[in-house]
Formats: sequence, structure tokens, C-alpha cells
Amino acid sequence: MADVYFSFFSLSILVPLSLLILLYFIVRPRPVSVPIKNSHVFITGGSSGIGLALAHLCAREGANVSLLARNVTKLEEAKQSIKLATGRDVNVFSADVRDYDAVKRAIEEAGPIDVLVCNQGVFVPQELEHQELEEIKFMIDVNLTGSFHLIKAALPGMKKNRAERGPGSIAIMSSQAGQVGIYGYTAYSASKFGLKGLAEALQHEIIADNIHVSLIFPPDTETPGFVEENKRRPQLTSIIAASSGAMKADEVAKKSLDGIKSGTFIVPCNFEGFLLSVGTAGLSPQRSYLMAFVEVMTAGIVRLAALFFQWNWYGSIEKWHKKQ
Ligand SMILES: *[C@@H]1O[C@H](CO)[C@@H](O)[C@H](O)[C@H]1NC(C)=O
Ligand SMILES: *[C@@H]1O[C@H](CO)[C@@H](O)[C@H](O)[C@H]1NC(C)=O
Ligand SMILES: *[C@@H]1O[C@H](CO)[C@@H](O)[C@H](O)[C@H]1NC(C)=O
Repeated sequence: MADVYFSFFSLSILVPLSLLILLYFIVRPRPVSVPIKNSHVFITGGSSGIGLALAHLCAREGANVSLLARNVTKLEEAKQSIKLATGRDVNVFSADVRDYDAVKRAIEEAGPIDVLVCNQGVFVPQELEHQELEEIKFMIDVNLTGSFHLIKAALPGMKKNRAERGPGSIAIMSSQAGQVGIYGYTAYSASKFGLKGLAEALQHEIIADNIHVSLIFPPDTETPGFVEENKRRPQLTSIIAASSGAMKADEVAKKSLDGIKSGTFIVPCNFEGFLLSVGTAGLSPQRSYLMAFVEVMTAGIVRLAALFFQWNWYGSIEKWHKKQ
């Protein structure tokens, strides 16, 4: 009897407990806390949507905020709204992230950055066969190459001040389409999957400089961009990507900022996103031993759920084609 009791005890308590302790020691990089107050936060695509909401939050927490976007009018409006809401001055820079020289000039003028948020983006969902090559190139240039431009231009300044100013952060706005490819998202998913490779490799390269990478995975978000995008969404994309409703830009900004502050590598924004992150954790870094524990314990069952999703999606595609 005692034996049975002991083996039950060891299985249900000792095994998970040993796993937790093991994970506590092996998770890398180590936990970190990135300060926002008095830091210089540079946000691209910061004149509307998630970027603007994030700029408001950072200003409210006492950061010096710089915004980079293309449209001067929108930048001025953003500057005014932040000044009105928080009393803080914001520096704005008009540049196209596709133009490396312009990006470099803006970043030099803005001064050394502590937190860089790459949030620029254009997005037009369409089947590869129907999408203009120009449009595909445009999306990849803005989202993927644009992020390379920003990070390369900002890194020298970011590295310089770390000893006095504490940990820095590079946050990259991905999307749930950066965790799973679906119908109508070839260019979009390619650029977002690309960002994941960039982020994972970059974290290796800059961890010794005390700069921490966060990859943020928002679901559909109620932004001006999303409204535009929905007008052209293929029907199948809407069927497959039907989600529990779009999040508000403010909510996504709050989750993003929490992720940046804790140096979290993969930042999901809602429960669905949390499941996606567990399901796609793969070889990505994890600072939290608790999250690592959840990942290890649920890997099998989450994979099973993923297979059910694929079953459902392929079913929808089949049904749709039969109807046509
Ligand atoms: C923040 O802005 C103030 C006022 O412009 C400036 O004195 C200070 O040096 C800035 N701090 C950073 C970190 O850029
Ligand atoms: C810039 O934004 C303003 C205000 O939203 C808009 O009216 C204008 O058309 C935009 N300009 C360009 C070049 O997109
Ligand atoms: C580019 O990034 C923006 C902002 O995250 C996103 O809304 C858009 O869908 C992205 N487009 C592509 C092609 O990745």
C-alpha cells in the first residue's frame, strides 16, 4: 500500500517538481527588467494604431518618445495628442523605412535609443496567384527589410549606453500569421516568419550587449490598417481566420509593453495567442521557467489541437472549392 502511495506521489508531485527545478536552472536568457521611465523609446509606424497606443503608454510612464512614420500630417496629429494626454514632448521623424539612408539620418538625429519598436507595416491579403508582384515586394520591403534597416541603424547607439542605462530592448511587431501560414497570407506570413528568424538570431548576437528582443504576436486588431485590409480579404481567408473578434489597439499595446518590460521573447496578446505560442515554441528562447514548464507539459496535447485546426481548415478549403 505504502509503495503504491509512494509511486503515485512521485509521479504526480516529484516528477513535475524536479522538472520545474531543472527548468528554473536551464532557461536562458535569464529574466530581465527593461526600464521605460526616463528611457528613449523609438517607435515606427507610431502615428496610428498599435504604435500610437504604445507611444501614449510609454509617454505616460515617463519615457522620451520618438515616432517615425511616413505621413507628416499624421505624425503631427500624434505628437499633439500625446502632448495633450501626457504633457510630454514627442520627437517625430518622417521617413520611409525602405530608405536606409533616411532611416539612419532620423535615428542619428533622435539620439541613442533604449527601446526600439519596429511596428511599421503594410498588409494586403490575397492569393499569390492574384497578387501583383509589386505589392508582394512592397510588403516584404516595408515589414522585413524595413526592420533590418531600423535595427542596423539603431544598434550602434543602443549598444553604447547600456552600462549606465541598463537593459535595452528591440521589439518587433509580428502577427499571428507569423506563427501559422494560412490561405491568402503568402507574402504576409513569409515576411512575418522572416521576422522570427531575424529575432532569434539577433537575440544571440546582442544578448552580451544587454539588449533583449521581444517578438509580439497580436491577433486581428481594430486599426485603420485592419479596416483597409478587410476590404480585400479573400473569402477563404475570412473563413479560416475567423477568430473570436479583433482586439483593441490599446489592449495590444498594453500586452506589448508588459512583454517589452520583462524582456519576454515571444509575446502573445490573448488566450488564443498564448496557445499558438505554446504550439510554436519549438527552438525559441524562453526566460520564464513557469512558461517553459507549461510548454513542456502541454506540447503533445497542443500538437493534437493544432492537427484538429488543420483538419478543420483543409475541410473548409475543400468545401469552398466544391461550391465554386
Ligand atoms: C529626454 O528628454 C529630455 C528633454 O528633452 C532630455 O533632457 C533628456 O536627455 C532625454 N532623455 C533621453 C534618455 O533621451
Ligand atoms: C496623411 O494623413 C492625412 C490625415 O490622415 C491624410 O489626409 C493624407 O491623405 C495623408 N497623406 C498621404 C500622402 O498619405
Ligand atoms: C506588416 O506589419 C504590419 C504591422 O504589424 C502588419 O499589419 C502587416 O500585416 C504586415 N505586412 C506584411 C506583409 O507582413
